[in-house]
Amino acid sequence: MSFQQQISKAAGIPASEIPASYQIVGHVMLLRLLKAKDDETKKKLAEAVLSLYPGVRTVCELQGSKGELRQPSITVIAGNGTEVLHKENGIIYHFDAAQVMFSKGNLFERQRLIEKIKSPETVVDMFAGIGYFSLGLAKFSRAGKIIAIEKNPVAFRYLRNNLKINKVNFETIFGDCLNFDVENFADRVIMGYFPGTEKFLPQAVNIAKNGAVVHYHNCYFEKDLWKKPLGEIKKSCKKAKILGKRKVKSIAPRTCHAVVDFQVLK
Ligand SMILES: C[S@@+](CC[C@H](N)C(=O)[O-])C[C@H]1O[C@@H](n2cnc3c(N)ncnc32)[C@H](O)[C@@H]1O
Repeated sequence: MSFQQQISKAAGIPASEIPASYQIVGHVMLLRLLKAKDDETKKKLAEAVLSLYPGVRTVCELQGSKGELRQPSITVIAGNGTEVLHKENGIIYHFDAAQVMFSKGNLFERQRLIEKIKSPETVVDMFAGIGYFSLGLAKFSRAGKIIAIEKNPVAFRYLRNNLKINKVNFETIFGDCLNFDVENFADRVIMGYFPGTEKFLPQAVNIAKNGAVVHYHNCYFEKDLWKKPLGEIKKSCKKAKILGKRKVKSIAPRTCHAVVDFQVLK
């Protein structure tokens, strides 16, 4: 039975008002409830989830994430407690789902990076968040040195705690990655942020050594792939070799989160 059918049966509300998919982080289920008619319907739906999913203790409506620091807009509908311990691929992420975003759609990308690092490289994670990329790299890759930069004080506090929980150690910097004052420093630069990531490309190229790899994430209308991201790279890096490009996930109709890997040649 599908999620819609299950909840429809238990809550006595039409399947058309129930989302087809959901996201679970730790004990929190996040739902986009655009189709639910009113607050009473949302409440019934959330109560049905709590009764059918024993691992879920809080059901929240996710309206999206906003602003430069990608803070989620979330309303608790049933249950309580949004601070979670979310386990994924051998890493524990501690964070408050109401304050910090966590994209499960990036799972493949997190795994892909771990497999890419085959020597003790220096890696700079320009938008570290709670350690989405860096924790996995520290625990499972051959990276030699990791520097994780994060501007949001809440995410930074969780990042620091996640180092302890996962028993790893690397350098963390609280602040804006544009102020990270180094040149020709890293073998790999991770730009795990959007929208508007293009404005950070010159800084990524600065941080990169000759021959370094940059993982450039951004969001695009499907019709602009791949001309637009490749044009942005060319503008910031005179000599760049494109190593790969892929759509990470769909984020709105005809709009996707994409990543281009390129090598900086200085
Ligand atoms: C939310 S993460 C992106 C999601 C992540 N890649 C994943 O796998 O789920 C992006 C982070 O970049 C941080 N950020 C935004 N602008 C920044 C800047 N100029 N310098 C450093 N961190 C920044 C945000 O606070 C946020 O925590």
